[in-house]
Amino acid sequence: MSQHEEQNKAANHQPGDPNTTGHKWDGIEEFDNPMPRWWLWTFYATILWGLIYTIAYPAWPLVNSATAGVLGWSTRADVASEIVSVEEANAEINGRLAAIKMEDIAEDADLHGYAVSSGAAVFRTRCAQCHGSGAAGAVGYPNLLDDAWLWGGDIENIHLTISHGIRNEDDPDARYSEMPAFGRDELLTPEEIDQAVNYVMSLSGTPQDAAQVEAGSVIFADNCAACHMEDATGDPEQGAPNLADAIWLYGGDYDTVKETVTNSRFGVMPSWQSRLTEAQIRAVATYVHQLGGGE
Ligand code: HEC
Ligand code: HEC
Repeated sequence: MSQHEEQNKAANHQPGDPNTTGHKWDGIEEFDNPMPRWWLWTFYATILWGLIYTIAYPAWPLVNSATAGVLGWSTRADVASEIVSVEEANAEINGRLAAIKMEDIAEDADLHGYAVSSGAAVFRTRCAQCHGSGAAGAVGYPNLLDDAWLWGGDIENIHLTISHGIRNEDDPDARYSEMPAFGRDELLTPEEIDQAVNYVMSLSGTPQDAAQVEAGSVIFADNCAACHMEDATGDPEQGAPNLADAIWLYGGDYDTVKETVTNSRFGVMPSWQSRLTEAQIRAVATYVHQLGGGE
Protein backbone atom coordinates (compact mmCIF):
# COMPACT_ATOMS: atom_id res chain seq x y z
CA MET A 1 0.00 0.00 0.00
CA SER A 2 1.45 3.33 -1.01
CA GLN A 3 1.82 6.14 1.44
CA HIS A 4 -1.14 8.02 -0.08
CA GLU A 5 -3.42 5.11 0.02
CA GLU A 6 -2.54 4.54 3.60
CA GLN A 7 -3.27 8.12 4.40
CA ASN A 8 -6.54 7.99 2.48
CA LYS A 9 -7.53 5.01 4.43
CA ALA A 10 -6.57 6.65 7.64
CA ALA A 11 -8.78 9.64 6.73
CA ASN A 12 -11.96 7.63 6.43
CA HIS A 13 -11.67 7.61 2.70
CA GLN A 14 -14.85 6.39 1.01
CA PRO A 15 -14.53 4.04 -1.96
CA GLY A 16 -15.01 6.00 -5.20
CA ASP A 17 -13.62 9.24 -3.74
CA PRO A 18 -10.74 10.79 -5.70
CA ASN A 19 -7.25 10.44 -4.34
CA THR A 20 -6.18 12.99 -1.82
CA THR A 21 -2.83 14.69 -1.43
CA GLY A 22 -2.77 13.51 2.11
CA HIS A 23 -3.17 17.04 3.44
CA LYS A 24 -5.89 17.31 6.00
CA TRP A 25 -7.07 20.15 8.20
CA ASP A 26 -9.80 19.81 10.76
CA GLY A 27 -11.19 16.83 8.94
CA ILE A 28 -11.19 18.55 5.56
CA GLU A 29 -9.09 16.66 3.01
CA GLU A 30 -7.33 18.06 -0.05
CA PHE A 31 -8.31 16.07 -3.15
CA ASP A 32 -5.62 15.32 -5.70
CA ASN A 33 -7.65 15.94 -8.86
CA PRO A 34 -5.78 16.57 -12.12
CA MET A 35 -6.61 19.91 -13.78
CA PRO A 36 -9.21 19.50 -16.55
CA ARG A 37 -7.63 19.07 -19.98
CA TRP A 38 -9.20 22.15 -21.52
CA TRP A 39 -7.90 24.25 -18.62
CA LEU A 40 -4.40 22.93 -18.96
CA TRP A 41 -4.26 23.57 -22.69
CA THR A 42 -5.62 27.07 -22.26
CA PHE A 43 -2.92 27.66 -19.66
CA TYR A 44 -0.16 26.46 -22.03
CA ALA A 45 -1.66 28.56 -24.81
CA THR A 46 -1.47 31.72 -22.70
CA ILE A 47 2.20 31.05 -21.93
CA LEU A 48 2.90 30.58 -25.62
CA TRP A 49 0.89 33.69 -26.46
CA GLY A 50 2.83 35.68 -23.85
CA LEU A 51 6.11 34.56 -25.35
CA ILE A 52 5.13 35.38 -28.91
CA TYR A 53 3.77 38.73 -27.76
CA THR A 54 6.99 39.75 -26.04
CA ILE A 55 8.93 38.85 -29.19
CA ALA A 56 6.55 40.76 -31.47
CA TYR A 57 6.09 43.89 -29.33
CA PRO A 58 8.36 46.06 -27.16
CA ALA A 59 8.55 44.21 -23.86
CA TRP A 60 11.64 43.26 -21.93
CA PRO A 61 13.26 46.16 -20.07
CA LEU A 62 16.91 46.72 -20.88
CA VAL A 63 19.25 49.17 -19.12
CA ASN A 64 18.17 52.29 -21.00
CA SER A 65 15.28 51.13 -23.13
CA ALA A 66 13.45 47.90 -23.87
CA THR A 67 13.50 45.21 -26.54
CA ALA A 68 11.95 46.77 -29.64
CA GLY A 69 9.85 43.82 -30.82
CA VAL A 70 10.10 42.34 -34.32
CA LEU A 71 6.94 44.13 -35.56
CA GLY A 72 8.58 47.49 -34.93
CA TRP A 73 5.41 48.85 -33.31
CA SER A 74 5.65 51.85 -30.98
CA THR A 75 3.13 54.18 -29.33
CA ARG A 76 5.00 57.11 -30.86
CA ALA A 77 4.68 55.77 -34.39
CA ASP A 78 1.00 55.12 -33.68
CA VAL A 79 0.46 58.73 -32.57
CA ALA A 80 2.48 60.03 -35.52
CA SER A 81 0.37 58.10 -38.00
CA GLU A 82 -2.84 59.29 -36.32
CA ILE A 83 -1.60 62.88 -36.55
CA VAL A 84 -0.79 62.39 -40.22
CA SER A 85 -4.28 61.07 -40.93
CA VAL A 86 -5.92 63.97 -39.04
CA GLU A 87 -3.72 66.39 -40.96
CA GLU A 88 -4.70 64.78 -44.22
CA ALA A 89 -8.36 65.03 -43.31
CA ASN A 90 -7.92 68.74 -42.49
CA ALA A 91 -5.54 69.59 -45.34
CA GLU A 92 -8.25 71.09 -47.51
CA ILE A 93 -9.74 73.38 -44.87
CA ASN A 94 -6.27 74.35 -43.53
CA GLY A 95 -5.28 75.30 -47.06
CA ARG A 96 -8.34 77.50 -47.34
CA LEU A 97 -7.66 79.06 -43.96
CA ALA A 98 -4.04 79.84 -44.85
CA ALA A 99 -4.99 81.48 -48.15
CA ILE A 100 -8.06 83.56 -47.34
CA LYS A 101 -7.85 87.24 -46.40
CA MET A 102 -7.82 87.53 -42.61
CA GLU A 103 -10.89 89.74 -42.39
CA ASP A 104 -12.90 87.35 -44.59
CA ILE A 105 -12.58 84.42 -42.18
CA ALA A 106 -15.48 85.71 -40.08
CA GLU A 107 -17.78 85.73 -43.11
CA ASP A 108 -17.30 82.03 -43.86
CA ALA A 109 -19.25 80.30 -41.07
CA ASP A 110 -17.66 76.88 -41.68
CA LEU A 111 -14.15 78.21 -41.79
CA HIS A 112 -14.71 80.47 -38.79
CA GLY A 113 -16.10 77.60 -36.71
CA TYR A 114 -13.16 75.40 -37.64
CA ALA A 115 -10.65 78.19 -36.92
CA VAL A 116 -12.13 78.89 -33.48
CA SER A 117 -12.15 75.26 -32.35
CA SER A 118 -8.73 74.34 -33.73
CA GLY A 119 -7.40 77.71 -32.48
CA ALA A 120 -8.68 76.90 -28.99
CA ALA A 121 -6.65 73.67 -29.09
CA VAL A 122 -3.52 75.56 -30.17
CA PHE A 123 -4.15 78.08 -27.39
CA ARG A 124 -4.38 75.37 -24.74
CA THR A 125 -1.07 73.85 -25.80
CA ARG A 126 0.99 76.91 -26.69
CA CYS A 127 -0.42 80.01 -25.05
CA ALA A 128 -2.15 79.04 -21.82
CA GLN A 129 1.16 78.74 -19.91
CA CYS A 130 1.57 82.51 -20.11
CA HIS A 131 -1.89 83.92 -20.82
CA GLY A 132 -3.83 81.52 -18.58
CA SER A 133 -6.14 78.71 -19.69
CA GLY A 134 -9.06 81.14 -19.90
CA ALA A 135 -6.83 83.81 -21.56
CA ALA A 136 -7.36 86.16 -18.60
CA GLY A 137 -3.62 86.73 -18.27
CA ALA A 138 -1.48 87.36 -15.21
CA VAL A 139 0.92 90.04 -14.01
CA GLY A 140 3.08 90.88 -17.03
CA TYR A 141 0.96 88.69 -19.35
CA PRO A 142 -1.92 90.57 -20.89
CA ASN A 143 -5.55 89.60 -20.52
CA LEU A 144 -6.80 88.72 -24.01
CA LEU A 145 -10.48 88.86 -23.06
CA ASP A 146 -10.86 92.59 -22.55
CA ASP A 147 -10.92 95.58 -24.91
CA ALA A 148 -7.50 96.83 -23.84
CA TRP A 149 -4.88 96.06 -26.47
CA LEU A 150 -1.19 96.85 -26.20
CA TRP A 151 -0.45 96.24 -29.87
CA GLY A 152 -3.90 96.55 -31.44
CA GLY A 153 -6.91 94.24 -31.27
CA ASP A 154 -8.05 93.96 -34.88
CA ILE A 155 -7.51 90.60 -36.54
CA GLU A 156 -4.53 91.80 -38.65
CA ASN A 157 -2.69 93.12 -35.61
CA ILE A 158 -3.40 90.05 -33.50
CA HIS A 159 -2.12 87.91 -36.37
CA LEU A 160 1.04 90.01 -36.62
CA THR A 161 1.68 89.86 -32.86
CA ILE A 162 1.31 86.08 -32.81
CA SER A 163 3.36 85.46 -35.97
CA HIS A 164 6.40 87.44 -34.86
CA GLY A 165 6.04 87.81 -31.09
CA ILE A 166 7.21 90.70 -28.97
CA ARG A 167 10.76 91.78 -28.06
CA ASN A 168 12.15 88.30 -28.67
CA GLU A 169 15.61 87.77 -30.10
CA ASP A 170 14.90 85.13 -32.71
CA ASP A 171 12.53 87.05 -34.99
CA PRO A 172 13.82 90.24 -36.65
CA ASP A 173 10.20 91.25 -37.35
CA ALA A 174 9.14 90.93 -33.72
CA ARG A 175 7.24 93.86 -32.25
CA TYR A 176 9.72 96.05 -30.47
CA SER A 177 9.79 99.03 -28.14
CA GLU A 178 11.60 99.78 -24.95
CA MET A 179 10.49 102.04 -22.15
CA PRO A 180 13.50 103.84 -20.66
CA ALA A 181 14.55 102.93 -17.11
CA PHE A 182 14.08 106.45 -15.76
CA GLY A 183 15.43 105.72 -12.29
CA ARG A 184 18.15 103.17 -12.97
CA ASP A 185 19.59 105.26 -15.79
CA GLU A 186 19.10 108.49 -13.82
CA LEU A 187 16.97 110.15 -16.47
CA LEU A 188 14.73 111.48 -13.70
CA THR A 189 15.50 112.30 -10.07
CA PRO A 190 13.73 110.36 -7.29
CA GLU A 191 11.49 113.42 -6.66
CA GLU A 192 10.51 113.60 -10.32
CA ILE A 193 9.74 109.89 -10.35
CA ASP A 194 7.58 110.31 -7.27
CA GLN A 195 5.72 113.11 -9.06
CA ALA A 196 5.25 111.13 -12.27
CA VAL A 197 4.03 108.07 -10.36
CA ASN A 198 1.45 110.14 -8.50
CA TYR A 199 0.29 111.70 -11.74
CA VAL A 200 -0.13 108.26 -13.36
CA MET A 201 -2.09 107.03 -10.33
CA SER A 202 -4.34 110.09 -10.49
CA LEU A 203 -5.41 109.21 -14.04
CA SER A 204 -7.42 106.18 -13.03
CA GLY A 205 -7.93 106.56 -9.31
CA THR A 206 -6.39 108.21 -6.34
CA PRO A 207 -2.75 109.25 -6.16
CA GLN A 208 -0.76 108.41 -3.07
CA ASP A 209 0.16 112.09 -2.65
CA ALA A 210 -2.18 114.56 -4.37
CA ALA A 211 0.30 117.41 -3.91
CA GLN A 212 2.66 115.78 -6.44
CA VAL A 213 0.15 115.38 -9.27
CA GLU A 214 0.47 118.88 -10.72
CA ALA A 215 4.25 118.67 -11.05
CA GLY A 216 3.86 115.09 -12.27
CA SER A 217 1.75 116.16 -15.22
CA VAL A 218 4.65 118.30 -16.45
CA ILE A 219 7.12 115.44 -16.05
CA PHE A 220 4.67 113.22 -17.92
CA ALA A 221 4.24 115.61 -20.84
CA ASP A 222 8.01 115.94 -21.20
CA ASN A 223 9.07 112.34 -20.68
CA CYS A 224 6.19 109.97 -21.17
CA ALA A 225 3.68 111.42 -23.61
CA ALA A 226 5.85 110.53 -26.62
CA CYS A 227 4.87 106.92 -26.10
CA HIS A 228 1.85 106.94 -23.80
CA MET A 229 0.30 110.00 -25.60
CA GLU A 230 -0.65 113.38 -24.13
CA ASP A 231 -3.88 112.01 -22.69
CA ALA A 232 -2.08 108.84 -21.52
CA THR A 233 -4.35 106.55 -23.52
CA GLY A 234 -1.35 104.74 -24.98
CA ASP A 235 -0.01 103.97 -28.43
CA PRO A 236 -0.53 100.56 -30.06
CA GLU A 237 2.22 101.35 -32.59
CA GLN A 238 4.71 101.19 -29.73
CA GLY A 239 2.92 98.76 -27.46
CA ALA A 240 2.67 101.53 -24.89
CA PRO A 241 -0.24 100.74 -22.57
CA ASN A 242 -3.16 103.02 -21.84
CA LEU A 243 -2.42 104.43 -18.36
CA ALA A 244 -5.85 105.98 -17.88
CA ASP A 245 -8.15 102.95 -18.03
CA ALA A 246 -7.45 101.29 -14.66
CA ILE A 247 -6.36 98.14 -16.52
CA TRP A 248 -2.85 97.21 -15.52
CA LEU A 249 -0.35 94.88 -17.05
CA TYR A 250 1.97 95.10 -14.05
CA GLY A 251 -0.11 96.93 -11.44
CA GLY A 252 -1.35 100.41 -10.55
CA ASP A 253 -0.37 100.73 -6.89
CA TYR A 254 2.36 103.16 -5.91
CA ASP A 255 5.17 100.62 -5.46
CA THR A 256 4.47 98.81 -8.73
CA VAL A 257 4.20 101.95 -10.87
CA LYS A 258 7.38 103.25 -9.22
CA GLU A 259 9.15 99.99 -10.04
CA THR A 260 7.98 100.25 -13.68
CA VAL A 261 9.19 103.83 -14.04
CA THR A 262 12.45 103.20 -12.20
CA ASN A 263 13.59 100.02 -13.97
CA SER A 264 11.11 99.75 -16.86
CA ARG A 265 9.75 96.42 -18.05
CA PHE A 266 10.52 94.34 -21.08
CA GLY A 267 7.70 91.90 -21.69
CA VAL A 268 8.78 89.18 -24.11
CA MET A 269 6.54 86.91 -26.16
CA PRO A 270 7.96 84.19 -28.43
CA SER A 271 7.63 84.29 -32.20
CA TRP A 272 5.33 81.57 -33.51
CA GLN A 273 5.88 81.65 -37.25
CA SER A 274 8.65 79.05 -37.06
CA ARG A 275 6.78 76.86 -34.59
CA LEU A 276 3.24 76.82 -35.96
CA THR A 277 1.84 76.53 -39.48
CA GLU A 278 0.20 79.58 -41.05
CA ALA A 279 -3.19 77.86 -40.67
CA GLN A 280 -2.55 77.29 -36.96
CA ILE A 281 -1.51 80.92 -36.43
CA ARG A 282 -4.63 82.13 -38.21
CA ALA A 283 -6.77 79.72 -36.23
CA VAL A 284 -5.42 80.90 -32.89
CA ALA A 285 -5.65 84.55 -34.02
CA THR A 286 -9.30 83.99 -34.88
CA TYR A 287 -9.84 82.28 -31.55
CA VAL A 288 -8.25 85.18 -29.62
CA HIS A 289 -10.12 87.76 -31.70
CA GLN A 290 -13.54 86.28 -30.91
CA LEU A 291 -12.83 85.88 -27.18
CA GLY A 292 -14.59 89.12 -26.52
CA GLY A 293 -12.23 92.02 -26.97
CA GLY A 294 -11.39 91.79 -30.68
CA GLU A 295 -11.79 95.06 -32.56
C1 HEC B 1 6.34 82.90 -22.78
C2 HEC B 1 5.10 83.58 -22.52
C3 HEC B 1 4.11 83.74 -23.64
C4 HEC B 1 3.56 82.79 -24.47
C5 HEC B 1 3.88 81.29 -24.50
C6 HEC B 1 2.62 83.47 -25.30
N1 HEC B 1 2.58 84.79 -25.00
FE1 HEC B 1 1.36 86.17 -25.84
N2 HEC B 1 2.28 87.62 -24.76
C7 HEC B 1 3.23 87.42 -23.79
C8 HEC B 1 3.62 88.71 -23.23
C9 HEC B 1 4.64 88.92 -22.10
C10 HEC B 1 2.88 89.68 -23.90
C11 HEC B 1 2.93 91.18 -23.66
C12 HEC B 1 4.24 91.74 -24.11
C13 HEC B 1 4.24 93.25 -23.94
O1 HEC B 1 4.47 93.69 -22.81
O2 HEC B 1 4.00 93.95 -24.92
C14 HEC B 1 2.05 88.97 -24.86
C15 HEC B 1 1.16 89.58 -25.72
C16 HEC B 1 0.28 88.92 -26.55
C17 HEC B 1 -0.68 89.57 -27.43
C18 HEC B 1 -0.86 91.05 -27.58
C19 HEC B 1 -1.90 91.54 -26.61
C20 HEC B 1 -2.18 92.99 -26.78
O3 HEC B 1 -2.77 93.54 -25.82
O4 HEC B 1 -1.85 93.57 -27.80
C21 HEC B 1 -1.38 88.58 -28.06
C22 HEC B 1 -2.49 88.75 -29.05
C23 HEC B 1 -0.83 87.32 -27.61
N3 HEC B 1 0.16 87.56 -26.70
C24 HEC B 1 -1.27 86.09 -28.05
C25 HEC B 1 -0.59 84.91 -27.78
C26 HEC B 1 -0.92 83.64 -28.38
C27 HEC B 1 -2.06 83.41 -29.35
C28 HEC B 1 -0.03 82.73 -27.91
C29 HEC B 1 0.09 81.26 -28.28
C30 HEC B 1 0.30 80.96 -29.67
C31 HEC B 1 0.84 83.43 -26.97
N4 HEC B 1 0.47 84.74 -26.93
C32 HEC B 1 1.86 82.81 -26.27
C33 HEC B 1 3.75 86.22 -23.38
C34 HEC B 1 3.48 85.00 -23.99
C1 HEC C 1 9.79 104.78 -25.40
C2 HEC C 1 8.40 104.70 -25.05
C3 HEC C 1 7.99 104.91 -23.60
C4 HEC C 1 8.23 105.98 -22.79
C5 HEC C 1 9.03 107.24 -23.13
C6 HEC C 1 7.58 105.71 -21.55
N1 HEC C 1 6.97 104.50 -21.59
FE1 HEC C 1 5.90 103.64 -20.11
N2 HEC C 1 5.71 101.96 -21.23
C7 HEC C 1 6.17 101.81 -22.50
C8 HEC C 1 5.95 100.44 -22.93
C9 HEC C 1 6.35 99.87 -24.26
C10 HEC C 1 5.36 99.78 -21.82
C11 HEC C 1 4.99 98.30 -21.74
C12 HEC C 1 6.23 97.62 -21.25
C13 HEC C 1 6.22 96.11 -21.27
O1 HEC C 1 5.18 95.49 -21.50
O2 HEC C 1 7.28 95.55 -21.05
C14 HEC C 1 5.21 100.77 -20.78
C15 HEC C 1 4.63 100.52 -19.55
C16 HEC C 1 4.39 101.48 -18.61
C17 HEC C 1 3.66 101.26 -17.39
C18 HEC C 1 3.06 99.94 -16.96
C19 HEC C 1 1.59 99.95 -17.24
C20 HEC C 1 0.85 98.75 -16.74
O3 HEC C 1 -0.24 98.50 -17.30
O4 HEC C 1 1.30 98.07 -15.81
C21 HEC C 1 3.66 102.44 -16.70
C22 HEC C 1 3.02 102.71 -15.35
C23 HEC C 1 4.39 103.39 -17.50
N3 HEC C 1 4.80 102.79 -18.65
C24 HEC C 1 4.60 104.68 -17.14
C25 HEC C 1 5.45 105.54 -17.83
C26 HEC C 1 5.86 106.82 -17.34
C27 HEC C 1 5.39 107.45 -16.06
C28 HEC C 1 6.72 107.31 -18.26
C29 HEC C 1 7.45 108.63 -18.21
C30 HEC C 1 8.23 108.90 -17.02
C31 HEC C 1 6.82 106.37 -19.34
N4 HEC C 1 6.06 105.30 -19.03
C32 HEC C 1 7.59 106.55 -20.46
C33 HEC C 1 6.75 102.75 -23.29
C34 HEC C 1 7.21 103.99 -22.84
